[in-house]
Amino acid sequence: MEPPRMSPVVEPLSWMLGTWLSEPPGAGTFPTLQPFRYLEEAHISHVGQPMLNFSFSAFHPDTHKPMHRECGFIRLEPDTNKVAFVSAQNTGIVEVEEGEVNGQELCIASHSIARISFAKEPHVEQITRKFRLNSEGKLEQTVSMATTTQPMTQHLHVTYKKV
Ligand code: HEM
Repeated sequence: MEPPRMSPVVEPLSWMLGTWLSEPPGAGTFPTLQPFRYLEEAHISHVGQPMLNFSFSAFHPDTHKPMHRECGFIRLEPDTNKVAFVSAQNTGIVEVEEGEVNGQELCIASHSIARISFAKEPHVEQITRKFRLNSEGKLEQTVSMATTTQPMTQHLHVTYKKV
């Protein structure tokens, strides 16, 4: 079967498409945590619909044991630069972030966060993310969050190389 033709609606986010692997390993931080490193594989694709599909799978850098995982959709409002990012995470969070794409940079902030029963404490109250394609053609993701115990602080920074 021929690969589906990309919807023109997702053209402003076409720089995100592909399979990406963290290089170097991602860096995790937070005031309550020891700094940590992680590997992450990101798949960002489309099936011809006016949205992107994504999955991010993190692994321990030494043991390769699966860690954080999330998947969802990145939707664009037709004829605008407005973006909605919908994500379900293995930690029991389901969230929607909204924002804008400008050139090769996407900035989004949480609009609603639902916690599935028995999600671990402390709970997340706000999330912001920035994705950008840097001058070396690598994708970067930065995630900050506020929890029930900490104000908005960076939790993750990762640079991915296209594979
Ligand atoms: C801890 C949220 C993505 C690794 C935490 C905590 C929260 C959180 C609320 C507890 C912080 C505390 O104890 O004060 C999130 C959210 C994410 C995300 C909302 C995505 C939007 C990731 C990713 C990794 C990761 C991609 C990569 C491996 C960790 C680790 C800890 C942690 C190792 C400490 C141990 C633990 O609590 O499991 N995260 N996280 N997180 N996160 Fe994330």
